[in-house]
Amino acid sequence: MNNFPAVDPIPLPAPVWLFKALHILTMALHFYAVELLIGGLLIAVLLNLMGVMGRGSAISGVRLGAAASLAKRLPIVMTYVINLGVPPLLFSQVLYGRALYTSSVLIGAYWIAVIPMLMACYWLLYKFNAGAERGRPVWWIGALSWLIAGSIAKILSTNMTLMLRPEVWQQMYSATAGGTHLPPHDPTTSPRWLFMLAGGLVFAGLWMVWLAGHKRIEMPVREYLAGLGGRVAVAGVIAQLAAGHFVYHLQPAKVLADIAANPFYHLSSFVWIGSVALILVFGAWVGFKKVTAFAAGWVGATLGFLALAGWTIFRDGVRDYTLLGKGYDVWQRTVVTNWSVVGLFLLLFVIGLGTIGWLVSVMVRAKPVTESVVK
Ligand code: HEM
Repeated sequence: MNNFPAVDPIPLPAPVWLFKALHILTMALHFYAVELLIGGLLIAVLLNLMGVMGRGSAISGVRLGAAASLAKRLPIVMTYVINLGVPPLLFSQVLYGRALYTSSVLIGAYWIAVIPMLMACYWLLYKFNAGAERGRPVWWIGALSWLIAGSIAKILSTNMTLMLRPEVWQQMYSATAGGTHLPPHDPTTSPRWLFMLAGGLVFAGLWMVWLAGHKRIEMPVREYLAGLGGRVAVAGVIAQLAAGHFVYHLQPAKVLADIAANPFYHLSSFVWIGSVALILVFGAWVGFKKVTAFAAGWVGATLGFLALAGWTIFRDGVRDYTLLGKGYDVWQRTVVTNWSVVGLFLLLFVIGLGTIGWLVSVMVRAKPVTESVVK
């Protein structure tokens, strides 16, 4: 029996490949921001805790300074998490609405709870930042914010796996229509969530290496950021590979075979593994040598993006082939392309990117504020 609701009779206004390309691009950008938030916040919390515990020693001021440098950027990162989360949400609703709407309704109470949780998480980030700048013991506020962010991630992982399981929808809806029941156990949900959490360490490490290249930060803090950042990135890669191993091997053999047979998804796995191997070497080198070069930061940021793009595409393959095996073919849609609207959309998209580029250039030209050791 096919459990997917009937397809919307309104045809798609643009080709499926265009929606998929935009979906994967914006999804990768959302994941970049999510990883910086989850990993950067955790490291900032630990540095603030270690800094206040060792108060008085030289290293404690450096740690508090490094925590403050990360904390002051976290509210900005959160704006990217949210704004870069909206486009993939819209694209995935267009492409996978019949699966995603169903799973979202089935866990509706948790799904809707994401909004107040997000507001609480954001508010706590500001409180954490205000205290971290002054070297106050605010690690517990940051830890609370991190726990909320981690729970949001868990709800998202739960929904993104439930949308792939039409076989349990009926039973869940029969149990309650109130959206308060969580899905029956699925072995892939937790490894998938842990994969994202571990990725946070990789990106926090690369972020610290990037910050270490900035002259506005005092040299002792920069050296500390480079040394710790490189090592955290290495530890993150190892943890993420372990979680990735489980995610991969828990997929059905048919799904893995289909992915291997598709050159696009197959290539994405090589890009992913290749970039991860380079991050491992790069992180070890920066961490050991405490490299504070500006260019090193950009090398790390680029490798991070390649790894992330690789796994985002691979993840897309897992979803498409899992759904295909259950009777849902994302490519089987009636398309009546409205080229004038598509053209207008692409024009506005380019203007939007140009405006963001201009905003970034204004930020880069702004007078820098020195970030120092916190006394
Ligand atoms: C603290 C805030 C957030 C965190 C920690 C977070 C984390 C995550 C994680 C871990 C996933 C991957 C789940 C998986 O596949 O296992 C994900 C996917 C996603 N997130 Fe976020 N997210 C946050 C906020 C948001 C917001 C505010 C939006 C939208 C406005 C959003 C939209 C999405 C969408 C649409 C997907 C998946 C779409 C797809 O697979 O097609 N997220 N997020």
